[in-house]
Amino acid sequence: METKKFTTSPSDLQAAAQLIQQGQVVAFPTETVYGLGANALDETAVQKVFTAKGRPADNPLIITVDQIDQVADLALISPTARQLMNQFWPGSLTIILPIQTGKVSPLVTGGLDTAAFRLPDNQAARELIRLAGTPIVGPSANTSGKPSPTTAAHVWHDMEGKIAGIVDDGPTTVGVESTVIDLSVSQPTILRTGAVTQEELSQALNQSVIDATSTRALADNQTPKAPGMKYRHYAPDKPVVMFDPLDIAELKLALKPADVVLALEDDLNILALPGQQTWSLGLSMMNASEQLFAGLRYFDDRANVQTIYVERMPEIGLGRAFNNRLSKAAGNQLFIPKEG
Ligand code: TXA
Ligand code: MG
Repeated sequence: METKKFTTSPSDLQAAAQLIQQGQVVAFPTETVYGLGANALDETAVQKVFTAKGRPADNPLIITVDQIDQVADLALISPTARQLMNQFWPGSLTIILPIQTGKVSPLVTGGLDTAAFRLPDNQAARELIRLAGTPIVGPSANTSGKPSPTTAAHVWHDMEGKIAGIVDDGPTTVGVESTVIDLSVSQPTILRTGAVTQEELSQALNQSVIDATSTRALADNQTPKAPGMKYRHYAPDKPVVMFDPLDIAELKLALKPADVVLALEDDLNILALPGQQTWSLGLSMMNASEQLFAGLRYFDDRANVQTIYVERMPEIGLGRAFNNRLSKAAGNQLFIPKEG
């Protein structure tokens, strides 16, 4: 299949929307990562998304909308849900709601009686949905198990020949996937960390919100609540190892010539590694989440690279989402300095 490249010009978005109406798959930008769009109400189109990603059928898809009314047509919107939509949409929050019986294909929900909804903060994405005239499914546009794509080039790398088109809106700004909150259970529960934090959500709802991704919550309940949690995620082929900024001096001594380092600009300067390949995570935690997947993908495609070392961020705000994606990519491997 020929994969067409689209800009965000009105005529290109029109052409991309037409492909979606025809039941084709088109990758689209959001502020978090690129998604794979297809008519959420067309089972044949949805099936093509699973095929292109190589995604297991029991891992449900997010439904992406450009207005809250489209959610009301398919699901039950509680006052709590309404509150979160008003406060955080458009934005990096995905909300899981009970669906109206028979309104959403089990292909989309993975057979659950709930579905995940998101209204992204990206003009081109919303215009595409508006022009297509239908909600679209929007899983991240990577091959299943690979880091999510934060540029159209990443999407091209994984999806060329497998989908009908890609809308290019440059690099995404957030860089990690949206926060997922489950409102179908008695107490609101975060299933995936992202730019919208537990503190912000608790404050908005004036009640405590459970974070099911925290290590304590996972230990209490071994069965993952988000179907996607049980799959290996965000994993490059090369080994990834996390390191703590406090261990920088020891790391420097341990590095082999073919090892590479992803770290904040200031810490790369402290490390001073002439001859070593490095990738700057920028000046702050905000830049770091934007750069993580791009850095992992860059080195994963380089034949001469051995191990990818990545700096951990402080466990606050977006740093929690960064560390969560990083520890998945690293399979939890942490650099431990040798004693003595
Ligand atoms: O930022 C994002 O959310 C991106 C952009 C493209 O919008 N999309 C994205 O979709 O990350 P995806 O499919 O890669 O991740 C959605 C996650 C998966 O882990 C899935 O298992 C979970 O949400 N999910 C979807 N529907 C669910 C449901 N009904 N109940 C529990 N988890 C659900
Ligand atoms: Mg994904």
